[in-house]
Amino acid sequence: DWTMAAFRDTKIAEIRAQVGDRRVICGLSGGVDSSVAAVLLHEAIGDQLTCVFVDHGLLRAGEAEQVERLFRDHYNIPLIARDASDLFLSALNGVDDPERKRKIIGGLFIDVFQEEAQKVENAGLLAQGTLYPDVIESVSFAGGPSVTIKSHHNVGGLPERLNLELVEPLRELFKDEVRALGRELGLPERMIGRHPFPGPGLAIRIPGPVSADKADILRKADAIYLEEIEKAGLYDAIWQAFAVLLPVKTVGVMGDSRTYDHVCALRAVTAVDGMTADSYPFDHAFLSQVATRIINEVRGINRVVYDVTSKPPGTIEWE
Ligand code: XMP
Repeated sequence: DWTMAAFRDTKIAEIRAQVGDRRVICGLSGGVDSSVAAVLLHEAIGDQLTCVFVDHGLLRAGEAEQVERLFRDHYNIPLIARDASDLFLSALNGVDDPERKRKIIGGLFIDVFQEEAQKVENAGLLAQGTLYPDVIESVSFAGGPSVTIKSHHNVGGLPERLNLELVEPLRELFKDEVRALGRELGLPERMIGRHPFPGPGLAIRIPGPVSADKADILRKADAIYLEEIEKAGLYDAIWQAFAVLLPVKTVGVMGDSRTYDHVCALRAVTAVDGMTADSYPFDHAFLSQVATRIINEVRGINRVVYDVTSKPPGTIEWE
């Protein structure tokens, strides 16, 4: 696409002019936006870029490994990957309020990121994959009711804390344009088409207190669900699909014995921008297949339900 090729060249020139011979830090989340930003920056300034990836222990199955493989091994981008699972999980111990979970994770994220970023000597700039809708949203919703529903954490406050100049090469782009730019840059299609994933991760998909055990159970169920969705060729027709681990135990029967385990809820929605959404109308046979696999393969879950709520009145996430 010639427009994206031109955009890429223009941006590369702009980035070089802004950065000069300084060093840049770019936070990676595993999502599309920060990945595209990082690869674009790498093309522009090579090893003057260092990426920082913080694993809060509430990522999906295999996610940290995928980020390391893609950026460090495939692109050869200097990458600091910090496993801070223990820190986040102990801070979340006993916390059940969704907004407190977000605040704790958001705050700790900034602390850990700062700690890692300080290891990069002479860093002068911080790169962020901010998109045009993020720019607009922070203006038009200021003080409005939408932002108070859920405090979205996307490393807000980080640039001030680090005292770094910002580079935001995707600021003029919408999501579909970021994807087109990602293709232009040769990012794998799997990364470009990835479903959105919230900053607080699995913490807001485990209503009630979060623990490492619950996160492990949820990760397994979620991976099976997504594997089945991909096998059925439905991944790209869905905006977001994920499992939720409920703090409710119910009775079941497995072979000759009674079980007493958690309920897992499955969520899948179609949406254009995430502001409104409809639940995805899976075949019953598909849902039964997923339920059977989860119950057979995941210790700790003995019942699976499907969430048919649209947004509004529901939200996409359960917290
Ligand atoms: P809701 O649940 O509000 O979600 O309908 C709309 C979209 O936003 C994502 N989401 C978040 N993303 N931090 C994020 O970075 C958050 O705290 C957060 N909460 C929700 C959600 O996954 C969906 O794509």
